[in-house]
Amino acid sequence: MQNLKLLISREQIANRIVEMSKQITADSLGEPVLFVGVLKGAAVFLTDLIRQVDLDASFDFIGVSSYGNPPGPKQEKVWDSTGEVRLTKDVEQSLRGKNVILVEDILDTGLTLAFLKRLLLGHKPKSLRIAVLLDKSARRKLAVEADYVGFKIPDEFVVGYGLDYAEQYRNLPDIWTLPQISGE
Ligand code: IMP
Repeated sequence: MQNLKLLISREQIANRIVEMSKQITADSLGEPVLFVGVLKGAAVFLTDLIRQVDLDASFDFIGVSSYGNPPGPKQEKVWDSTGEVRLTKDVEQSLRGKNVILVEDILDTGLTLAFLKRLLLGHKPKSLRIAVLLDKSARRKLAVEADYVGFKIPDEFVVGYGLDYAEQYRNLPDIWTLPQISGE
């Protein structure tokens, strides 16, 4: 694949998801769990995760859009959020009294998850946990942390396994960095 550099292989992802699923299963103490995936990036991760947990599990999706800075002359930091996050699709079932795990592909500045956490807590779930596949903690702007983290990664733009650049690359089975976007 031209210009892409392999960061995390499909085998590493699969192994880590098994570990995360065991932790989620143990922490859930046999209670049912509703997984809420953030469209579209988390769709691939969510479907792999829920097939590994040993729980009475159901799932739903929520949609948000955040506004990125327009690409500059050197396409620098085009994925920076301006801080505006907006709901594009709400969950379809009630969260009240349920054990909810919000599932996101990547925790970056934290704006999206801070917005969603506040929104979902308003639904009065019994508990709310956050699971992310990737954590780019160097870029955090808001103090939001995940309960389950697949991989901590450096400040580089990544694609594959659900993650996109302009809707491209979501179907790649591994996770790659896009060096020209990452500013290398
Ligand atoms: P945050 O609101 O800044 O934490 O960003 C979260 C969202 O930004 C993620 O759900 C992704 O859609 C997007 N994002 C952040 N970093 C990357 C990346 O490296 N590749 C692809 N999408 C990213």
